[in-house]
Amino acid sequence: MIETDISNIWGSIDFSKLMSMEERLREAHASLADGTGAGNDFLGWYHLPSGTTEAELDAIAAAAKKIRKESQALVVIGIGGSYLGARAAIEFLNGTMHNESDPMKIYFAGNHLSTRALNDLADRLENVDFSINIVSKSGSTMETAVAARMFRWLLNRKYGVEKAKERIYVTTDPYKGKLRTLTQEEGYTNFPIPSNVGGRYSVFTACGLLPMAVAGIDIRAVMAGARKAEQELDVRSMENPAWLYAAARNMLYENGKKIEILCSYEPDFEYVGRWWQQLFGESEGKDGKGIFPACLQFTTDLHSMGQLIQQGERNMFETVVRFVPSGRELSIEIDWKNIDDLNYLAGKTVGYVEENAYEGVLQAHVDGGVPVIVLKCGEMNARTLGYMMYFFQLSCGISAYTLGVNPFNQPGVEDYKRNMMTNLGR
Ligand code: PA5
Repeated sequence: MIETDISNIWGSIDFSKLMSMEERLREAHASLADGTGAGNDFLGWYHLPSGTTEAELDAIAAAAKKIRKESQALVVIGIGGSYLGARAAIEFLNGTMHNESDPMKIYFAGNHLSTRALNDLADRLENVDFSINIVSKSGSTMETAVAARMFRWLLNRKYGVEKAKERIYVTTDPYKGKLRTLTQEEGYTNFPIPSNVGGRYSVFTACGLLPMAVAGIDIRAVMAGARKAEQELDVRSMENPAWLYAAARNMLYENGKKIEILCSYEPDFEYVGRWWQQLFGESEGKDGKGIFPACLQFTTDLHSMGQLIQQGERNMFETVVRFVPSGRELSIEIDWKNIDDLNYLAGKTVGYVEENAYEGVLQAHVDGGVPVIVLKCGEMNARTLGYMMYFFQLSCGISAYTLGVNPFNQPGVEDYKRNMMTNLGR
């Protein structure tokens, strides 16, 4: 369901070198599948699509139904892996402007420390019935904890303590952490992020699925796509598109391409890009190694970053995510005055213009010394999303092991937290 097209990278690497990576990739894949590599206590994501039961999905769907019945808005409170997957899915499937059209509003908080943004959201909720979903694996992340306390307080004030409890949903580690203790103490409805699933690999747990279900997304279709990927991408050869992607990016990195630009021509893809950015950045960026993952939106960013990509330092490559056009076409009308000189396109579609832009950009960037990997992903729907996210998780695990790093820890993130805690007098 995903095709990795590497026909536009040969100017930078040669075929035999790429093929010589086969053994390293086989070992990396085996380390993931057999649980023999570094960080192997965080491999729960690997079989999540096939391992998630109907009963688990039913429980998520039932909670989502209750939230939709009782509330006009859900505030998802989490940061990093505890919100990016959900937001990515909702924007990818329901559009970036989903809150303008959907009766059920989904807001995100706890992913910053902005007083202005928190106050703005609180004001918006003043006359709205709302519920909250606090999402934190560790249960002690500052941004999430501060926002959770604020919105719990708002709920208490609005509904009274006992009624407020019915509007608080928690997704956290099933056994430990302050949020787990709070949940038990207060009796909140809760869902687990299994102990062996790390934040950025948790989109197929309730962490991603509950907000998706509240947004009206068919979570079974998402999981069906992910399950298909789990099965199809188990192939242990270069025919595996996840291997090809992992191999190509590692080879390009070894050849001096230190930045990967992930781009699509779909504005609704933006948060999938941010999710991907965290997945690869936090998984690979350690031990003095790692590709810098940058997410751009085309054609938008061609008008801001296009110059740098075309003629700046030749230290980058591009991964373009392509989707099959949706059935709904948009034609360019004829205008008899033709002052804008666009009549040569009259009767053509916007999709036709986009396709030509894509071909033109690809050729220009390749000619300019930027190798381009193309990931052909099919239609923009729930199955594709599930498949694509699993594809990226698997590619990331294989790529990181090939690079020689543990994909499942993030020791560097603790440094800023330590300083912040010291400054706060903790
Ligand atoms: O991938 C990760 O582990 C991180 O990005 C976490 O998801 C993020 O730091 C939030 O952590 P927590 O869910 O513990 O609040």
